[in-house]
Amino acid sequence: MRLPTDAEIRALHVKHAPTEEAFELVHTHCQIVCAIALRLADRAGLGVDAELVRAGSLLHDIGVYPLYGEDGRLDHAGYVRHGILGHELLRAEGLPEILCRFCSHHTGVGISREDVLRQGLPLPPRDYLAESAEEELVMYADKFHSKTDPPRFVTAGAYAAHVRRYGDDKAEAFASMCAAFGVPDLRPLAAAYGHEIV
Ligand SMILES: [Fe+2]
Repeated sequence: MRLPTDAEIRALHVKHAPTEEAFELVHTHCQIVCAIALRLADRAGLGVDAELVRAGSLLHDIGVYPLYGEDGRLDHAGYVRHGILGHELLRAEGLPEILCRFCSHHTGVGISREDVLRQGLPLPPRDYLAESAEEELVMYADKFHSKTDPPRFVTAGAYAAHVRRYGDDKAEAFASMCAAFGVPDLRPLAAAYGHEIV
């Protein structure tokens, strides 16, 4: 299977971004998540396919673009749908299922069918849980950077405090990913991108 290059992925972002600002926000975030994931993957013993992690992380949030309205504003209420929207977008672009899945299986620490029903999420009721080590690593790396205004890096402690609101099981899932993958040093990336760490 030939995976798309960084340039091909960038071109897909450009094609689907409604504005230059949206492109900058989402594509930069994807590059940062890619850098975090690849640094973690470098650690001995993880045994992940680094090329798949690269392509998956660079594509994971492409489904945010369809959530921008005519007025250029993001539909925050429907934000949780960005995963399935990205999956559909990449499938329509002819990309393989293994890449489409990075979009639909990276939200939070994994969304279960039960979460969809209990929280009344605007998603078809099924599991959206990372299955492969590559999917889990991209999902995990994504938690350390946020597309807020301005964008910020998020420490493991700050994310743990955030995710606890969704249940002890979510906090435990995040803690076990921290143990499995390690906690990234965000300082070099924060300096390189000029984004604050919170
Ligand atoms: Fe993301």
